Formats: sequence, C-alpha cells, structure tokens
Amino acid sequence: NSANPAPASARRNLADAPLLVAARGGTPRHTPVWFMRQAGRSLPEYRKLREGVPMLQACLTSELVSEITLQPVRRHGVDAAILFSDIVLPLYAAGVGLDIVAGTGPVVSSPVRTPADVAALPTLDAAQVEPVADAIGLLVRELGPTPLIGFAGAPFTLASYLVEGGPSRNHERTKALMHSDPQTWHALLDRLADTTLEFLKVQLAAGVDAIQLFDSWAGALSLRDYREFVLPHSRRIFASVAEIADVPKIHFGVGTGELLGAMRSAGADVVGVDWRVPLDEAATRLRAAEPEAAAPVVQGNLDPAVLFAGWDAIEREVHRILGEGQAAGGHIFNLGHGVLPSTDPEVLTRVVELVHTASKQQ
Ligand code: CP3
Repeated sequence: NSANPAPASARRNLADAPLLVAARGGTPRHTPVWFMRQAGRSLPEYRKLREGVPMLQACLTSELVSEITLQPVRRHGVDAAILFSDIVLPLYAAGVGLDIVAGTGPVVSSPVRTPADVAALPTLDAAQVEPVADAIGLLVRELGPTPLIGFAGAPFTLASYLVEGGPSRNHERTKALMHSDPQTWHALLDRLADTTLEFLKVQLAAGVDAIQLFDSWAGALSLRDYREFVLPHSRRIFASVAEIADVPKIHFGVGTGELLGAMRSAGADVVGVDWRVPLDEAATRLRAAEPEAAAPVVQGNLDPAVLFAGWDAIEREVHRILGEGQAAGGHIFNLGHGVLPSTDPEVLTRVVELVHTASKQQ
C-alpha cells in the first residue's frame, strides 16, 4: 500500500537553489533562509484564510494547503517553502482520535499506553492523505525556483503526544513506558515509524525537494536513552527515504545540544540546532561525533524571542549567527524553533533581506 517512488521527472531541476546547494555542502550564492512555522498565525493573510476552518481540516484541503504554503514565500522571499501540515496529521488521517486545540496543541482522545493500545493503533495508508499529495502537485507548479520542504514528525515526538494524551512538560508517562516495558515501547515506535515513512513517501512521490524530520521533544532524553529507545527508529526512516529519493534530509529537535551527533548519525544531511548552542560549537560537536564524515551542515539558530528585541539587537544577532555558521560545512539560516504567533511579519522580511545581503558571494 505504499506510494510509488517518485520518477526523477516528478522533481524539478533546482540545481542552483541556495537551500539545496547548502544542504549538500556546496557554496550557494547566498546563505539560504527559511523559518520554521513561517506559514501561520504571524501572517494576517493566514488568519483570514483559516477563519472558521479547523486546523486538521485545513491540512486536508489541497487548495488551502497550497495557498497557505505560498503565503510566506511571496511575502518574505524565503529560500524554501515548507508544506503546510502538522506532525499529527498522518495519525489523524489514519483514524487516531485527536484534535489540535488552539493555544494548547494536539490532544488525543484515548491515550496509547498498553500493549493492546499499541496493537490497535492504525497505520497510515497513502490514500488517506491524497489531498496532501494533490496540494504538493499544485505547489510544485506554483513555486518556480523555490524548493519545497516536506516533513513529518519523528516517532519519539509522536509517541509523546499519543502516550501523554497531549503536550507534556516532563514526558513522564512516555519515559515510564520506555523504561518499564521496552518491548511495547519499541512496538509503538515501529508502528509510528511506518506511518511517518508512508507520509514521507507520499510527499516524495508528489515532488517535495527536501524533507525535515521533526523530533521536537527528543531533547528531553539523555543521550543513552536516545540511542537505545529512539535512534534505531529514526534511522530506519532516513535509510528508507535515502533508498527512494536523493533529496536533502534535515533533522531537528529543541534542546538537543547533547544529541547533535547522534541525530546526524540517524542519517541526516543537515542538523537543526536551537539557540542554546552556538553554530560553531554545534559544528565542533558534530565533527567530534563523526571525525571521518563530511563537514557537517547546520540549520539555525536565531532565538525566536529575539525578533521582539528591536532591529539593532536583531541585526547584531543575525551577523553573529552568520559568522558562527561559517565554522560548519554549510549553513541554512533559520530560527532556533518556530515563529511565535505575535511576531511582526515585517521583521521576518527584513531578516531575510539582511541574511541575503550580508552573505552574498562576490
Ligand atoms: O510553516 C511551517 O513550519 C509549516 C507548518 C507546521 C505546522 N506544524 C503548522 C501548525 C509545522 C512544520 C508543524 C510541525 C509541528 N506540529 C511540530 C514540530 C515543530 C515544532 O514546533 O517543534 C509540533 C510539535 C507540532 C504540534 C503542534 N501543532 C503544536 C504544538 C501546535 C500549536 C498549538 C497552538 O495553538 O499553540 C500545533 C498547531 C499548529 N500547527 C498551528 C500551525 C500553523 C497553529 C494552529 C492554527 O493556526 O490554528
């Protein structure tokens, strides 16, 4: 029931696109920049389109997905579009009872905690996310020279929502399951990896140019637990993606300073870094973890809260980050986490312009 691999012709020829050049360790004409959550509540045109449409319904309406994905590209001139969707969308589409509650996040009606719950968890079938494939079809025609990033949630972060029943500060039920019943834990992550992989396959077949695997909450784990309970499942996803398509693979989590090397070893070409670790230090850690590997490529890492500090402070921080990013084998400028909803969108546009002019190759 899996989607067919994308024929090479389904993907556009974007050989010079700065995002793809940087992701492959080449020298782009300027440092590429995009923002996690660039499509969303910071944009008045987004709020207008979303009026009266529940989040998950919007994610399954092709024309809305396409239009919302394009909004920040038109407005800010970012170097990538990211598919408008959500990490819990494939679970919802597969039939898991959940909703995205405004101001809270994903809420699951029957949390998954026992071996029977895991056995009953449905996995995704490509047909259930056909509107997403259709949206990507529209986007690749509309986007011109701008690459489209597809994405999915990594098994650990999805498991946290399912086991806790919603957002969690301490992930205590998730960690309790992991440590008390490793067999059930691994069965759960295996099923979630199947769903994530199916969702990514659909996106790749429809023509996305890169993928990002969000393990947003992996930073809650020790390196030891990450390696034992999470890494094998994320690694399977990246390995399968690599077999299907030659697209850059980005891996991101929040507070993952201790996990950067392990997350790269999952199979990522680009490692996302939040604002807690400077990019030069991140590059040092990545080199130390895999001395034989190619020079690491990093993505990040402006603190989204700094966008509220006034232009002088923002400009200073952008220059600092561009400088520190030069220590890596490549740098994709981004925030250290998603755009906060009350961010002034005009500030985001200015950041894009500044990154481009300050990093332009002569
Ligand atoms: O522009 C983009 O980055 C693409 C869109 C995107 C959304 N969710 C749209 C969204 C992406 C990449 C995601 C991924 C996502 N969703 C993650 C991983 C990234 C991260 O932030 O770490 C996570 C953990 C989720 C789960 C989730 N969905 C949360 C925590 C929330 C916020 C709830 C709230 O209201 O504060 C959502 C809802 C969500 N996903 C919104 C958007 C635009 C807001 C809902 C709305 O606009 O009504």
